[in-house]
Amino acid sequence: MNIYSSPMITIFFVVLCQILSPCQAYLHGKVRNLPDGFLLGTATSSYQIEGAWNVDGKSESVYDNLTHSKPCYSADCTNGDVAANSYYLYKRDVEMLRELGVDFYRFSLSWTRILPTSFPDKINKAGVEYYNKLINELLKYNIQPVVTIYHWDLPQKLQNLGGWVNPNIIDWYGDYAKVVFALFGDRVKYWITINEPYQLCSFGYGGTKLAPVFNLTGEADYLCAKNLLLAHARAFHIYNEEFRFIQHGIIFISINAEWFEPDTVNDVEAANDAINFWWGIYAHPIYSKRGDFPNGLKKRIAVISRRQGLLRSRLPELTPSEIKYIRGSSDIFGLNHYSTFFAYRNATTYSYYSRLTGPSYDADAGYMRYQRPEWQIGQSNSTLYVPWGFYKVILRITREYNNVPILITENGYATRTGLIDEDRVIYYRGYISAMLDAIHDGANIVGYCAWSLMDNFEWFNGYTEKYGLYEVDFNDTSRTRTPRKSAYVYKEIIRTRTLDMNYEPVMPKHINVA
Ligand SMILES: *[C@@H]1O[C@H](CO)[C@@H](O)[C@H](O)[C@H]1NC(C)=O
Ligand SMILES: *[C@@H]1O[C@H](CO)[C@@H](O)[C@H](O)[C@H]1NC(C)=O
Ligand SMILES: *[C@@H]1O[C@H](CO)[C@@H](O)[C@H](O)[C@H]1NC(C)=O
Ligand SMILES: *[C@@H]1O[C@H](CO)[C@@H](O)[C@H](O)[C@H]1NC(C)=O
Ligand SMILES: *[C@@H]1O[C@H](CO)[C@@H](O)[C@H](O)[C@H]1NC(C)=O
Repeated sequence: MNIYSSPMITIFFVVLCQILSPCQAYLHGKVRNLPDGFLLGTATSSYQIEGAWNVDGKSESVYDNLTHSKPCYSADCTNGDVAANSYYLYKRDVEMLRELGVDFYRFSLSWTRILPTSFPDKINKAGVEYYNKLINELLKYNIQPVVTIYHWDLPQKLQNLGGWVNPNIIDWYGDYAKVVFALFGDRVKYWITINEPYQLCSFGYGGTKLAPVFNLTGEADYLCAKNLLLAHARAFHIYNEEFRFIQHGIIFISINAEWFEPDTVNDVEAANDAINFWWGIYAHPIYSKRGDFPNGLKKRIAVISRRQGLLRSRLPELTPSEIKYIRGSSDIFGLNHYSTFFAYRNATTYSYYSRLTGPSYDADAGYMRYQRPEWQIGQSNSTLYVPWGFYKVILRITREYNNVPILITENGYATRTGLIDEDRVIYYRGYISAMLDAIHDGANIVGYCAWSLMDNFEWFNGYTEKYGLYEVDFNDTSRTRTPRKSAYVYKEIIRTRTLDMNYEPVMPKHINVA
């Protein structure tokens, strides 16, 4: 017997949940309404799906270069040369979006497809035509394009000039943004400047997980952070001053904010430092009243830099005019979220980091983290299921940044195989439910975007981690797309504008072979 079917117990839970709203998530069997006007969508990015890496005038990006020069950069020694082949299959992609019934589609523009020299001296007609066709196809079916201007596929030529550690990137990126506002802004009303600065700067410049594998931790990551914030702000100001009054869109950044819970009562500071070093370093300068990098982070890096004999902090300062330029440079908060960690700092942490010599982002942050094995609900050991962490991160952003409107620009779950993705269904339901709890408790969330529309090249995981609502058959030259169970569940959420924990889709017969 389902205990929630007893009326007394249901009343008890409903009353209790008026008081303790996070527990609303446990009201299984209840159908929860989404707010009026709430937007639902799904997302991809250019390098991960388009393929056609050297076609129609496109030049080389850092991912073309990395995956060709180090063929086993990714776990399965693959690359995005063809990927989901969306450069040719975009009409099928839009058909899938229509099947789902989404309000919007988040995709990104390939810089090297539009500007093969990296600069606006030559605009590549064929590249522009591809995005025009995609945007027009979306609008034909009333699907709003939400466009990420930059999702990591930097022109290799700009990387040869230093990429994100060269402050000239502020001009280069600003010029590129201006071109795309002029080309597409008559039809695109949602602009995301840059996707996931932490991953770009820390994994790409501090470390080796992402292109350009720059590998200068505790140095390049901080230079990247400062340049990226200024480049983002440049695009915002260009849009504000030259385009907003004619095009009437909004513009913002998408930050990956994972949740860090203190492991014990002694770890509150460690969890705060984890948040600062993961996403506060980007969110604070843009969204806080004071602007600038978080104080705690500035202090830690300055103290350790001094101890290392340096004359200045490895974190470059933001001048008062730079602080002002960056502060407020986003209309809303684009939130990418996947999972949660416990953070701690104890004797183990100190002895581990004391053994490191030389600059290190991790040693500057000086915390350790772990996840609980019971959070693994299925195939994924990377996207562990912790919906309460989603609730907490949303409320933290809401409280810290003056109730800023939030668009969830990514949330999703990785499987390894199969069409009957019960674990992904559980994940989406739990996380959407936690988001509704956060809305109930005052968060101003305008929409939710599932990552991803379809399986794609998952960076260093290659094709081994699959995030798609639709499966893509990468062994088949026609790159056949097939909806998973989660696609049917998401479709019903969109159709009914409700979350029904018990809904069972009727699956077509061919789907039942897992
Ligand atoms: C990567 O970029 C470097 C610098 O431009 C170039 O010398 C090299 O040939 C490129 N490698 C590949 C495989 O594209
Ligand atoms: C990154 O740098 C570290 C420290 O210099 C070095 O040990 C490591 O081999 C480098 N990794 C790569 C992939 O270049
Ligand atoms: C530090 O905390 C971690 C995580 O709770 C624990 O596993 C470890 O044993 C602790 N170390 C010490 C020395 O207390
Ligand atoms: C996750 O699972 C994959 C595939 O089974 C394995 O290769 C990888 O080492 C695992 N990662 C962790 C952190 O356990
Ligand atoms: C292609 O098929 C093989 C054999 O079934 C499988 O091991 C591999 O993972 C598939 N590759 C992709 C990219 O799906």
